[in-house]
Amino acid sequence: MLETNKVTIRFGGLIAVNEVSIRVQPNKITALIGPNGAGKTTLFNCISGVYKPTSGEVLLDGRHLEGRRGFQINEAGITRTYQVINLFWKMSVLENVLVGMNSRLKSNFWDSLFSTKKKREEEQRIHKKAYELLQFVGLEEYADAPAASLSYGKQRLLEIVRGLASEPQIILLDEPAAGMNTTEKAELDILLKKIIDMGVTILIVEHDMKLIMNVSNYIYVLSNGKLLAEGLPNEIQQNPDVIAAYLGGDD
Ligand SMILES: Nc1ncnc2c1ncn2[C@@H]1O[C@H](COP(=O)(O)OP(=O)(O)OP(=O)(O)O)[C@@H](O)[C@H]1O
Ligand SMILES: [Mg+2]
Repeated sequence: MLETNKVTIRFGGLIAVNEVSIRVQPNKITALIGPNGAGKTTLFNCISGVYKPTSGEVLLDGRHLEGRRGFQINEAGITRTYQVINLFWKMSVLENVLVGMNSRLKSNFWDSLFSTKKKREEEQRIHKKAYELLQFVGLEEYADAPAASLSYGKQRLLEIVRGLASEPQIILLDEPAAGMNTTEKAELDILLKKIIDMGVTILIVEHDMKLIMNVSNYIYVLSNGKLLAEGLPNEIQQNPDVIAAYLGGDD
């Protein structure tokens, strides 16, 4: 469904991503791994419209996405989370999810919402759905708390649920387990499988190899901007090039 075709991204003299081609299969968990600085986040930035590739294609169900703006890519069905958590800190947990849902609605949503009965009903429906999404990740008891008051691991869950609120086809997760404790990681493992059951496809960047090897259906390995290997988890684990890249890197 989602594919990149020889995507290259240059920053001045640096080639951060070098002719990388990946395919994300529907209803599967595809992982993108590799040492620090390999170009994983940069490729995400390119898929999600933060950067335009210097060359190459990004395709969703055959439609070209390269060079489109972030909101257009979101409308096309792709959402993402960030390596550095990016929430509306002063807003409540529930409001953060509402913002995710509103990306599907048009501007002056807040102005117009409260005026008529029909719109009030719409507001109730939207709140109910946002609350259900919080229940889905086990955050409902924090619905009214400011996002900033959540633990680091729960902030990551909130980012995921805000992404899901826009009803994407695909969610890109950039290091969702970073900062999570062992229990939270185990819960994340289950959550990722639940997201697939919802019908949402996952592309995940993650350094936690236990999690990656457990959840991934297919893995791409980037190193210095280039695709070093691809394959099933057991193939990747035994690949000498991959082992060397990790031992040689600062990971
Ligand atoms: N906006 C930018 N301008 C210049 N260089 C950049 C920019 N963004 C990323 N880079 C460089 O591109 C390379 C790839 O960075 P990227 O953040 O994609 O790596 P990563 O694989 O996500 O690493 P990590 O695992 O540490 O998050 C790095 O050398 C980085 O310094
Ligand atoms: Mg990164």
